[in-house]
Amino acid sequence: MTDKKLSTEAYKGVRDFYPEDMFIQKHIFENMRKAVEKFGYVEYGASVLEPAELYTAKSGEEIVNEQTYTFTDRGDRKVTLRPEMTPTVARMVTAKRKALTFPLRWYSIPNLFRYEKPQRGRTREHWQLNVDIFGVEGIEADIEVISVANEVMKTFGAKESDFEIRINSRKLLQQALEGKLKSPDLYASAIKLLDSKDKMSKETFESEWQKISDQPYSLNLQANETINSIISALKQKNISNVVFYPTLVRGFAYYTDVVFEVYDTSPENRRALFGGGRYDDLASLFGDDKVPAVGFGAGDVTMRDFLETRNLLPTYTPSAVLYVAVQDENCRQDAEQLASTLRAQNVNVILDISQKKIGDQIKNADRQKIPFVTVIGAEEIKNNTFRVKKLIDGVEKILKIDEISVYLKEK
Ligand code: HAM
Repeated sequence: MTDKKLSTEAYKGVRDFYPEDMFIQKHIFENMRKAVEKFGYVEYGASVLEPAELYTAKSGEEIVNEQTYTFTDRGDRKVTLRPEMTPTVARMVTAKRKALTFPLRWYSIPNLFRYEKPQRGRTREHWQLNVDIFGVEGIEADIEVISVANEVMKTFGAKESDFEIRINSRKLLQQALEGKLKSPDLYASAIKLLDSKDKMSKETFESEWQKISDQPYSLNLQANETINSIISALKQKNISNVVFYPTLVRGFAYYTDVVFEVYDTSPENRRALFGGGRYDDLASLFGDDKVPAVGFGAGDVTMRDFLETRNLLPTYTPSAVLYVAVQDENCRQDAEQLASTLRAQNVNVILDISQKKIGDQIKNADRQKIPFVTVIGAEEIKNNTFRVKKLIDGVEKILKIDEISVYLKEK
């Protein structure tokens, strides 16, 4: 043992959630759930641990080579902390595909781990709403999933002008790349390079491009029927901020057709908030059958930044509505009685146990942002009435015990 004290800092790139952060996190999850459940999606879950080969099966992806937390367990197995949910859900669906009724509408909010350079909007652990529909080949599924993405934004209070839904097609990209690459197995590398094009200098891009192609870089994509039909179907549903975006790529190689991204239009926060697309071939990693699938992943970090810049974050309120302060120890039993009665009526109550001066008890309640305080003293006990004070404006109300819960619930 040395005298060196441990650091109180969290591990690099991950977050501690103090109660006020947890309050926001809960708000984010609740709104995500509310939006997707409106469309009938049901929640599933899985372990954060997966066999490493789940991510190495499809090679050439940055996430596998540089971004996973992978270790060897005591039984010599290679294990990865999941960096995304899509391979897991594809595995789960394929495992039970005979017993499941399609189309499946599934969602989850897992925490994911990526060894990334921490920066605004990028952490090493984030939570990600995953919404996926399985078993539908037609564009109805793409339309539904994009409608759900739009509903998520609306549920958080976003206006249509706050965001833009950009769509493109991997089929178009693949066609455009055909014949341009030195070999067809460079497709995944090409996708990765195009996805990060905006993050590098023109020179770096050109030199990287020359590694995979003999021809000068140029891709000229025109919207196809799939793209146009999706845009017009969404317009009919009053979702009119959808645009064809030929430079949208997305990082994963498994997307097979439509890809999309919800993009923040604020000048302060110009970035993709979340995205997804169609991936019809992933299930074939596990079996012979194809299971068509479309979905998206929406992270909590980017969502929180969005809500912050748009002033859409909720104001923190603690779980307790009432703080029961105790005048002196002779009043403790009655104070306890009051607290129990109210709790039995489903009121969240903190009973002071500090034995501090009344002024300090009230200060404590105020610091914790508890909205109401009542002081139990000899007079309250004698009259069996209570002064319930609202801390924010000092308004007091004298109430009988049976009236308190009704009063607090109205507030
Ligand atoms: P992704 O684009 O890698 O896609 O991640 C989706 C979203 O998760 C991002 O747009 C962002 O909101 C959030 N996110 C990703 N990485 C980080 C990070 N390091 N820090 C904070 N937030 C992050 C996927 O993961 C696909 N599996 C989504 C999907 C589901 N496609 C079909 N179904």
